[in-house]
Amino acid sequence: MLRNISKVVLQRAKFSTAAAPAPQTNPEILYTGVRRTQLGTTTKIKPKHPTEPNRKLHAPLLAFQQMPGAGLCGNPSHLILPLVSSTKLGAYSQMLLFINNEWLKSSDGKTFQTSNPANGKVIADIQQGNKSDIDQAVQAANDAFKLGSQWRRMDASQRGVLLNRLANLIERDAAYIASLETLDNGKPYQASYFHDVQGSIRSLRYYAGWADKNHGYTLPADGNYFAYTRPEPVGVCGQIIPWNFPLLMAAWKLGPALAAGCTLVLKPAEQTPLTALYVAQLVKEAGFPAGVVNVVPGFGDAGAALVAHPNVDKIAFTGSTEVGKLIQRGAADTMKRITLELGGKSPNIIFADADVAAAVDQAHHALFYNMGQCCTAGSRTFVEDKIYDQFVELAAARAQKRVVGDPFRADVDHGPQIDAEQQNKILGLIESGKRQGAKLQAGGSRAGDQGYFVQPTVFSEVNDDMDIARIEIFGPVQQVLRFSEVDEVIQRANNTEYGLAAAIYTKDLDRANYVIQSLRAGTVWVNDYNVFCNQVPFGGFKQSGLGRENGPYGIKNYIENKSVLVKLTAKNS
Ligand SMILES: NC(=O)c1ccc[n+]([C@@H]2O[C@H](COP(=O)([O-])OP(=O)(O)OC[C@H]3O[C@@H](n4cnc5c(N)ncnc54)[C@H](O)[C@@H]3O)[C@@H](O)[C@H]2O)c1
Repeated sequence: MLRNISKVVLQRAKFSTAAAPAPQTNPEILYTGVRRTQLGTTTKIKPKHPTEPNRKLHAPLLAFQQMPGAGLCGNPSHLILPLVSSTKLGAYSQMLLFINNEWLKSSDGKTFQTSNPANGKVIADIQQGNKSDIDQAVQAANDAFKLGSQWRRMDASQRGVLLNRLANLIERDAAYIASLETLDNGKPYQASYFHDVQGSIRSLRYYAGWADKNHGYTLPADGNYFAYTRPEPVGVCGQIIPWNFPLLMAAWKLGPALAAGCTLVLKPAEQTPLTALYVAQLVKEAGFPAGVVNVVPGFGDAGAALVAHPNVDKIAFTGSTEVGKLIQRGAADTMKRITLELGGKSPNIIFADADVAAAVDQAHHALFYNMGQCCTAGSRTFVEDKIYDQFVELAAARAQKRVVGDPFRADVDHGPQIDAEQQNKILGLIESGKRQGAKLQAGGSRAGDQGYFVQPTVFSEVNDDMDIARIEIFGPVQQVLRFSEVDEVIQRANNTEYGLAAAIYTKDLDRANYVIQSLRAGTVWVNDYNVFCNQVPFGGFKQSGLGRENGPYGIKNYIENKSVLVKLTAKNS
């Protein structure tokens, strides 16, 4: 299986367009708060072969690239080493709001701090957007959307050109942006670089291609009419972003909105505003007219102001189910269009005919990727009883081998949780697992004495009614549950309020097809996990969300279809 994965990875890499050139010197880069003089050395690795990284220098990286799904997000033949190391912190500056292509202070001058989860040190002060700043940004977005504005008169194909330009600028500064993401979020640098940054570039390019391909229909209407539909941009969009994939979730929303011709106000998560602000600067550099993209960092009140605003036509939100429900209620008064990408408690079902070692590895990545802070985390690992004991032993050993530490180090694959609040919530749920009778097989406490690290943790003998089997932990805690019958595991897998993703591990095609059709989840992976493609829609059943991002469905959420009937004096077929 692993051999197959690496084959696919290499094949994908061969056709990759996401080569990462060294960043250019750009004095404005300093804006994001890290001074160039404090940056580390940039090294571009010259591959011996276009699809083969320098194995000697970067063995850990190679292993990382062979993780399931890794090939989707970057060309492993190029790596630029991190520009910032977490030991070189100290750069400290103020970041402003981006409204109407200008950098502004918040109306009341209030600020908040963003810090490095690996050591708790402050990175920068951020101007804190409030309701009045949201009003100003929404006004700018409405002005940019006015009839006759530069944006409304622009050819659809030109919107695609601008999106491609934005993707190129992100690619130019990929190492810097990946460094910022790791600094602000704590995810390992390789993941920031290959997954978040390269995935964002690909997403923007995918939707750049869509800009001039939103066709309507001409319709053979009854009567003397010429009837057609006109796909029009939905208008001004509010986009509210979570902290677990700050750049990627912003890119997934910017691309389709701009391709469709909308204007927008984006609110990054309060924990991780840096990459969205950096991209705002690139939006201006790419040549988007003023007011088309506005970025207002702030807390939940700023998000709520966007949701309630009468001059916002649509809200796109990724975050918790709890806040998703608030948004749905808040949007009802103004009948806004909404798309919600929410939480999950996804089942990962391993049948006894699986290659056990490969299944252990897949289940490990399914749960521990991004320190378990994934909406899709395979957090209920159902294992058929014939292989259960063997699986648990290997899963615990695999978790113990996971390298925890400074996310800028190339050999580290597990960084800190986002903040103390998440760390405490996770540790509390681990305690509940112990109390409620699950068997701790690995980890179980915090790691290190600074930052917000939690040991990769594995529980066996987990029952469906334990808190760790029901609540979205959003942390590095793997639950291994035992099952014996296909229909039993289907019923248990579906017995949750969530329905974001699911996976099956088996060699039996008939059984796989039966289970695929039975699972109530927005995505089902077979013999793999966490594979995301720009072309393939992603979203949730049940309380995991509304609507889809990515693929053709993603752009439909940003379009209103106008039906036009023109009276004819005569009609001929
Ligand atoms: N389904 C998906 O695609 C997906 C992807 C990533 C994360 N998630 C989910 O996101 C959650 C973790 O992210 P989080 O903690 O940042 O989520 P969160 O819901 O607390 O916050 C998300 C965003 O909403 C804003 N917000 C908070 N209160 C608000 C309000 N009342 N009105 C409007 N906006 C408000 C926050 O400031 C932040 O920008 C997890 O539950 C995870 O499953 C889902």
